[in-house]
Amino acid sequence: MDPRKRMEVLAAELLRHQHLYYVLARPEISDAEYDRRLDELVQLEERYPQYAGPNSPSRRVGSDLDGSFPERPHAVPVLSLDKLYEAREAAQWLRKTAAACGNDPGFTVEEKIDGASIVLYYERGELQHALTRGNGLAGSDVSDNVRTIRQVPLRIAEAGSLAVRGEIYITRDDFARFNAGLPEKYANPRNLAAGSLRNLKSSLTARVPLNIFVYEGFFPMGENSGRDHLEVLARLRDLGFRINPRLGFFCDSEPRRRKAQELFPGAVSAPLAGVEDYLLRLGTARAGVAYDVDGLVLKLADLEMRQELGFTAHHPRWAMAYKFEAPQARSELLDVLVQVGRNGRVTPVALLRPVRLSGSTVTRATLHNQDTIDMLELGIGDQVAISKRGDVIPAVDEVLEKSEANPSVYRLPERCPFCASRLVRDGAHHFCRNGSCPERQRRALSYFCAREQMDIESLGEKTIAFLYGKGWLRTIPDIYCFDYARLEGEEGFKERKIARIRAGVEKSREQPFARVLAALGFEGLAAAVAAALIAHGFDDVDKIIAGAARGDWEAFAAVEGIGEVTARQLVDHFTAAANLELIARLRDAGLRFRAEGPSAERIDDSFAGQVWVITGSFESFNPRSLAADEIRRRGGRVAENVTARTTHLLAGASPGSKLAKAEKLKVQVISESGFLERLQSGKQSNNGG
Ligand code: IVH
Repeated sequence: MDPRKRMEVLAAELLRHQHLYYVLARPEISDAEYDRRLDELVQLEERYPQYAGPNSPSRRVGSDLDGSFPERPHAVPVLSLDKLYEAREAAQWLRKTAAACGNDPGFTVEEKIDGASIVLYYERGELQHALTRGNGLAGSDVSDNVRTIRQVPLRIAEAGSLAVRGEIYITRDDFARFNAGLPEKYANPRNLAAGSLRNLKSSLTARVPLNIFVYEGFFPMGENSGRDHLEVLARLRDLGFRINPRLGFFCDSEPRRRKAQELFPGAVSAPLAGVEDYLLRLGTARAGVAYDVDGLVLKLADLEMRQELGFTAHHPRWAMAYKFEAPQARSELLDVLVQVGRNGRVTPVALLRPVRLSGSTVTRATLHNQDTIDMLELGIGDQVAISKRGDVIPAVDEVLEKSEANPSVYRLPERCPFCASRLVRDGAHHFCRNGSCPERQRRALSYFCAREQMDIESLGEKTIAFLYGKGWLRTIPDIYCFDYARLEGEEGFKERKIARIRAGVEKSREQPFARVLAALGFEGLAAAVAAALIAHGFDDVDKIIAGAARGDWEAFAAVEGIGEVTARQLVDHFTAAANLELIARLRDAGLRFRAEGPSAERIDDSFAGQVWVITGSFESFNPRSLAADEIRRRGGRVAENVTARTTHLLAGASPGSKLAKAEKLKVQVISESGFLERLQSGKQSNNGG
């Protein structure tokens, strides 16, 4: 066959199979067969580039050449929608519009997908241009990138001019997976979709799992494309476009509803009175939808009536968006609070003039880092728009009006507001590198005691701040050394409260290794990472320390769920002298630094009621936590300090001051050999002494 002819045949066939596969999910040939034909076409196109059209199916893989995005005028006005935020009001709008139309009008309700808006222009059956919405009059030509989206038909069986509006989006799952592999993360699926359309190299866009749903078709004027929006959608579907099957049709005419059902068997159809329920139902169901939906679009389906109602300056009068999210609110940036986290990371927080926003009063919003502030060009005194991201976390969206008194953009201070050490920038964030920074220490203490970590209920943020302020708690091991009796007489510390703190601290010694590990608060060592390490055989802190000492980050990276960045962080954390000392002191305090394997199993009650303190070094118990384990396995308790409540001191070589104190308090002192004997003889020696 003549190569040009062969190329045309191959191209047409491949496009048909792409449609079967990507739009209808009903492939007719195997992947291998498809690849074989595509390879053949690509080879022919290399030999005969003059015959390779812009809509060849080979375009789906994109190009490595830098493209650009010239602006082009839109052939159809690309208006946006008026919006309402209450289902009741949206239903009211529908009733009013229906009354204005008379004659049993119909309405569709479509999902308003939170993606990137696109207009596809076809001429003589070929995709000519794909333009972003732009300013509504002209958009950026992102055709090469859009051509890589398999669900976009490159050729259609429609000879006349056609414009199609749609939304390009990515599912939440695909977003999470794809974003994880990107060096620069996107904040949400919409940004990734919009950003992908603006890749300079379309070969990059080709790798992004983008989808499209189209929702409006503009067939040639005068042509009978149906008198009803549903007929337009059905026709687009027949041309190979992807139409969202989650569709509602509301009309009081029973025959029209039946017809709608025939065209779209998956659609919900009901009389007009059913619309409010439907809006509310979809609003609640949106979490279960695979992609982000920010509202619903109500549209008059009768096209002639649409013409009659026409447009305002900005919106069609025949459509209305019902938005799930509350609108933005206007507030003022009163000040920026500079927070310093336990690992030194500096986070600027916007202090806002209090304002009501979707059911709560907002006074603060995170600003993330200096880059975010620079991007917003945000300064103190500015009027700002705020909204809630993901329904909960308030964010500053934009500056509405710069402050006249202070036109500058806010800059983070050069020094830590808590310890005055110089802040250091690392990546997008600034850090306080002073390990003795009071704010970092206080945060580390709070984190350690928090419910998710060691769960020391009685040591909440306020109590910790108080103890820190007094200088009684500085570092984490202090929690286990401090004599809480010193709180007696302090305001707000009644006997019962002090007893509760003591009990909470004691109980926390029983927390499993996984919790202890995560509670250390090392960056990257979250609960999930701790659990993964342990499950993978790093079930003893000494094994982790040994791995880190060898610099063996690969061993950590071999753990499922741990990437290279975290693995390298682990090496740093478990070789840092300060951290090793922290671990040693907590181990001395009796915390668990080994996962409970068989060794943690209870043996008997022979040490019940006893409170042991361990000091010095041992031959059979190295590390000392091995001795502590033996005591616990027999029902005893292990404490850090010798007090009046101590019943036994286990003294090894070079015992130090604890021995003197034990002798003063007449605490029984047991040597290593005596201890071994007790372990062997069990119950009998409990009464001996
Ligand atoms: S209709 C004149 N239908 O929402 C027709 N828009 O402000 C106006 N959108 O960015 C648009 N899903 O891209 C329509 N089913 C849908 C939609 C939808 C998402 C987006 C659209 C635009 C915005 C409208």
